[in-house]
Amino acid sequence: MNVDLLITGISQLVTARGGGAKHGAAMRELEVIREASIAITGGRITWTGRFLDWDGQASATVDVEGRAVVPALIDPHTHAVWAGDRLADFDARTSGKSYEEILRAGGGIRSSIRATAAASQEDLVCLAVPRINRLLHSGATTIEIKSGYGFTTAAEIAMLEAIQRLRAVTPARLLSTLLIHIPPSDAAERARYVIDTCNDLIPKVATRKLASAVDVFVEQEAWHTEEAALILECAKRHGMKIKLHTEQFQRIGGLELGVRLGVLSVDHLEACVSEQLALLASSSTIATILPGVSLHLGIPAAPGRQLIDSGVAVAVGTDLNPGSSPLFSAVTALALAVRLNGLTASEALVAGTVNAACALDVIDIGRLEAGLHADFLVLEGSDWRELVYTLGANPVREVWAQGQRVAR
Ligand code: NIG
Ligand code: FE
Repeated sequence: MNVDLLITGISQLVTARGGGAKHGAAMRELEVIREASIAITGGRITWTGRFLDWDGQASATVDVEGRAVVPALIDPHTHAVWAGDRLADFDARTSGKSYEEILRAGGGIRSSIRATAAASQEDLVCLAVPRINRLLHSGATTIEIKSGYGFTTAAEIAMLEAIQRLRAVTPARLLSTLLIHIPPSDAAERARYVIDTCNDLIPKVATRKLASAVDVFVEQEAWHTEEAALILECAKRHGMKIKLHTEQFQRIGGLELGVRLGVLSVDHLEACVSEQLALLASSSTIATILPGVSLHLGIPAAPGRQLIDSGVAVAVGTDLNPGSSPLFSAVTALALAVRLNGLTASEALVAGTVNAACALDVIDIGRLEAGLHADFLVLEGSDWRELVYTLGANPVREVWAQGQRVAR
């Protein structure tokens, strides 16, 4: 075999196995190859195995000198485009006010909407670049970014266009999602907003392929299930994928709606209870948990351990956003999922790679095997478990995307 590049000197090559993310049991099955190599051609992996078993020719070789290699991470849930800050909210919360109270009083997400509306698209792009760069350095080569701070049709489209422009300035693969975030504060205008979303915003976004998925925030202080159902059914009719932010604070039927509609993922689940686990396990919906939110808001952690034990496939995201999770590191999200949600190191790696790929419905990333994109991380150390053990320092030494070193 003749290849472009051979990576040698890998102490441990660690990857989830193929076969999809559906079953919790599969979450524990990692493959570890010692003294390994990866062969790459045209940005894709052509071979992995023990260096001793390599008998091909490589145009170039890179020796990682006894370090561990894992698949690059996938951050399946961020709100990385925003303007303004939420420092006043943070002060209010640390003085005893809750996130929901602040939102109800017109602050929180509504204040980010005001700041984002006041920013130019150029500003939105410039503000997001360093955030994406930090996520990339923390190991994420694929990053989902949601709109949702636009509110009006024009401003939501401007956010999605900003994400499109960001693609030109980062080696990370960016997937965009239209988020229908919060309703008008005047209850009488809610129905109109849903109609406009379905008749105007979604068709425009679908036609211009500005987003591949639609997400709705289902919550007492946000959208209710009947409204979310209309929006998601419309998204499906337009050929878009669907997701939900749900069970963050209250249970108002979002998880059940998500399973009924077959959403790709239900995200948050801090308020999910054991009675809901079997339903989720019977579906192909991924549970995307966001430990940064539990840490930052001081709310319960999503029941990661119970979800996995029930047979639910769990993914982990940063939920990078100014209000509920100012977490700029994909690898730290995994480290927190181990501490706060009860995942093992292996489960966290699966959650941040193959399951996160499933939560985005992308099939050719997330594992290190022939045919998939050569997206991988060279760690600082020789033992891959340092990936989720380390706190406050970056255990990722080099980030590779499609066979190129894109960060070190
Ligand atoms: O995923 N919960 C709703 N949306 C975001 C937070 C947005 C914000 O607070 O600005 C989330 O937590
Ligand atoms: Fe979110």
